[in-house]
Amino acid sequence: MYILPVPVHIVDHPLVHDALVTLRDKRTPPEHFRRAATRISVMLAAEALRDIPTRAVTVETPLGPAPGERTGAEVVVVPVLRAGLGMLDAVLELVPDARVGHIGLQRDEATAVASQYYRKLPARLDASYVLMIDPMLATGGSAVAALDLLQREGARIVRMICIVAAPEGVALVERHHPEVAIYTPVVDRELNAHKYIVPGLGDFGDRLYGTI
Ligand code: PRP
Ligand code: URA
Repeated sequence: MYILPVPVHIVDHPLVHDALVTLRDKRTPPEHFRRAATRISVMLAAEALRDIPTRAVTVETPLGPAPGERTGAEVVVVPVLRAGLGMLDAVLELVPDARVGHIGLQRDEATAVASQYYRKLPARLDASYVLMIDPMLATGGSAVAALDLLQREGARIVRMICIVAAPEGVALVERHHPEVAIYTPVVDRELNAHKYIVPGLGDFGDRLYGTI
């Protein structure tokens, strides 16, 4: 049983759980898998950006002035390729003017150690809210490699959203990046011998793109 320390935010909402069970179900085809990934990502991202700064504005409705708030921070969203791309459209729907960085990481099939094959990050990371998106937090090797890179490039405020986490991955991120808040609906039981999350949902990228 995983005991929750401060940086993990469990996003507990009936619609999140509904999408999650669709993603877990091995009978779900890529078409429905993608849609469920988008649905759940909208809710996870909204939660992760709950405390984003806002500025007061007034707009004119057809009946007169109405006070309101506009988001007042630069947001940079960073999908970890390839599976993180399945969450990107959802975040851009919520924050249409976000800038997007990409980090390409792939786990070795035998060792599960991640190596980087691509990176392209926008400027001014130090002045931005950075939202790293990667659906699976398994050993945590990929997340820590991506967070190390973001930190080296100057990012200061970083949140990460994932769809399924394992206790080992959460612990590794906490050890290396205690300042990074993790938003996830669930911390699953364990990793298997091949470092897949159990019960998890299988290989997210393969299920998203039908490459099984
Ligand atoms: C998956 C997933 C994470 C990583 C998690 O990517 O999207 O990036 O594994 O595992 P870890 O916590 O043990 O590092 P994968 O390497 O399978 O590449 P893909 O996204 O291209 O399918
Ligand atoms: N990557 C996945 O896609 N699934 C896992 O369970 C672990 C890593």
